[in-house]
Parts: sequence; structure tokens; C-alpha cells
Amino acid sequence: MTVAEIKREMGISLKGLVPDVEFGIKAELIAEILDWKKKRNAVILGHNYMEPSLYHFIPDFRGDSLELSRQAAKTDKPVIVFCGVRFMAETAKILNPDKLVLLPSMKAGCSLAESITAGDVRGLKARFPGVPVVTYVNTYADVKAESDLCCTSGNAEKVIRSFGDRAIIFLPDQYLASNLAVVTGRPILFPENIPEGEMPPAGSIVGWKGRCEVHERYTVEDIKAVRAQFPDVAVLSHPECSPTVVAASDFSGSTKEMIDFVETTKKPRYLMLTECSMGDNVQAAHPEKEMLRLCMVRCPHMNKITLEDTLRSLKEDREAIEVPEDIAKRARRAVERMISIG
Ligand code: 13P
Ligand code: SF4
Repeated sequence: MTVAEIKREMGISLKGLVPDVEFGIKAELIAEILDWKKKRNAVILGHNYMEPSLYHFIPDFRGDSLELSRQAAKTDKPVIVFCGVRFMAETAKILNPDKLVLLPSMKAGCSLAESITAGDVRGLKARFPGVPVVTYVNTYADVKAESDLCCTSGNAEKVIRSFGDRAIIFLPDQYLASNLAVVTGRPILFPENIPEGEMPPAGSIVGWKGRCEVHERYTVEDIKAVRAQFPDVAVLSHPECSPTVVAASDFSGSTKEMIDFVETTKKPRYLMLTECSMGDNVQAAHPEKEMLRLCMVRCPHMNKITLEDTLRSLKEDREAIEVPEDIAKRARRAVERMISIG
């Protein structure tokens, strides 16, 4: 696409979402990134939280963590640029040890991934021997390496049900684990509630107190305030929100599942309790739908990925993700099982 074509398309699809004064500079950056993508024979994967101009023009594949992991597992391109956060790029590298995997900014972390270490997981395994460990994909490679199976919010219920009535350890998101306990009818406990020397009861979920710094901030009061103003709104929440927020919502699911919900239902208006850029992106893709964009919380990590950094990434191989092979080998088993459960 030429700069003029990109500017024209921006004026149609992203009007009101990207300030008009930024059209010119963004269009130039986008054209340059698309050129470099071709030159490098790269595939670009973009999470649903990317800002609208990047989301709209740059990725070959857009999606939630599960879809992007699937695309990373399938690609035959030698270079993968991950417009998302570090744990996502690491997952792509675990699946593609011989490819160059680039993350445009190493500052793109995640509060959930930071909430647990491999040592914490080893401690739990020593305390509860034989209890399978399921980790949310929002963890770093060394934590995945200690796990039996990974999952995303898109397949967590299926993964948990695959264990029948066995107790499982589910790490590290306290709220996701609590929401899954509700959906699957399992009790949830935390290590501090289990007497030393005892095992968790059959069917229980042993959780960990990690939280997403974005989703934990939504409250039932936020929902009540919006419903008071727009009684016919459909409220969608990510399962990283608290169980009370999820219970007060009309639908809860992964970022892709929320998008699917908007695409397949006819409600007067929608509110998404998740990272704010997603409301913008869904609005741009569906101008016929009304998305309430009462933006409340932005993810400081996803926001680190800019057009400028993406261009630099392609030009200068920054930042190349490395996962030591002994860790990657063990983590790969858990990630591949996650993808196969789908
Ligand atoms: P999804 O897998 O639903 O896209 O979630 C990723 C994430 O980081 C949510 O905050
Ligand atoms: Fe992590 Fe939350 Fe940001 Fe997702 S929104 S990357 S879970 S901090």
C-alpha cells in the first residue's frame, strides 16, 4: 500500500480513533513497516489490544493469546515479530526455537507473569506431589517449564475439565482460577488455606494470588453506573476480572470470544471491560455497532508496542527473544498440549 492509500483508508476506518494530525506520520511509518516486513520475509502477529492504527494495518494475524500461539506454531516464515507482550513472544520462541522471534519493546511485560517464579512452582509441586500443574499462558518460560499443561482464557475451561475430578494447581491468576471454579463447580483453595502436610481435596483448584493490574481495577460499581445510564447495554468482561464483576456482566470470555460475541449478537450497545484499545478496534471493524468507549483502564505493557518500535524491530532485529533450550524443551511440552486441547 502507498502512503496515500494508507492515509485514505485511515480517514475511512479510523476516523475519530486516531487524531487527524497523526494520519500523515502514521501512514509513513505503516508503509515503511510493510516494506520491511516483505524484505525480511517476516510474519507479524498482533494481539487484540494493539492500538488501532497498528492493529488495523500491520499484523498478518490478529487475535487472542490462543489464536496467536496457533499461528506461531504454524508459520513457515523465518522471522516472527510479535506485537504483544513478552510472554506471548516467548511462547512463539518456545514453539520456534530455530526462528528469529522479535518483540518490539522489552518493556512490554505483564503483572501476571511477574507474580510467580519457577521456584514458587517447584515449592508447590514439592508440597503437593502428583497434583497436576496448569499454568495460564501469561507466565514466563521457566514457569511454563515446571508445568504439566498451559492454557489461555480461551481454552481454560476445557483444560480443567480434561482432568476429571482430580485436584489441580492453577497458576497464577487468582481471578481466572476463581471464575473457572464457578463455571466448573469446583471448590477453590489457596496454599495458605491447606494445612501443612495435607493434600488438596479431590476436584479442588489450588490457586495463586496473581492479578492482572488492568482487569482487577474494574468494579461492580462501574457496571452499575454504566447500566444506570444505558439500561440496554450488554456488558462483556474478561475472566481476569473479579468473580463479582464477571457475575454482574452479561458475557465473559477471552478477547476473541468477546469480539465473537459482538459480531454474532444484535444488542443496542456494548461495553467491554478490558484494555481500552479493544473497544476502539471492534468499533473500527463494526461501524454499524455501538461500542461504548468509556475507557477506564489501559494496559501499560501492551501500550509499549508502537509503530516506531515495530519498524525498529524489523530494521535492527530488536528485541530478539532467547529461551535457553533446556527450559524451552520442557515448556514446549506444556504449550503444545495447550494447543492440541484447543
Ligand atoms: P486473551 O488471551 O483473552 O487475548 O488475553 C490476554 C491478556 O493478556 C488479557 O489481559
Ligand atoms: Fe498482563 Fe493484564 Fe496487560 Fe494482559 S492486560 S498483558 S494480563 S497486565
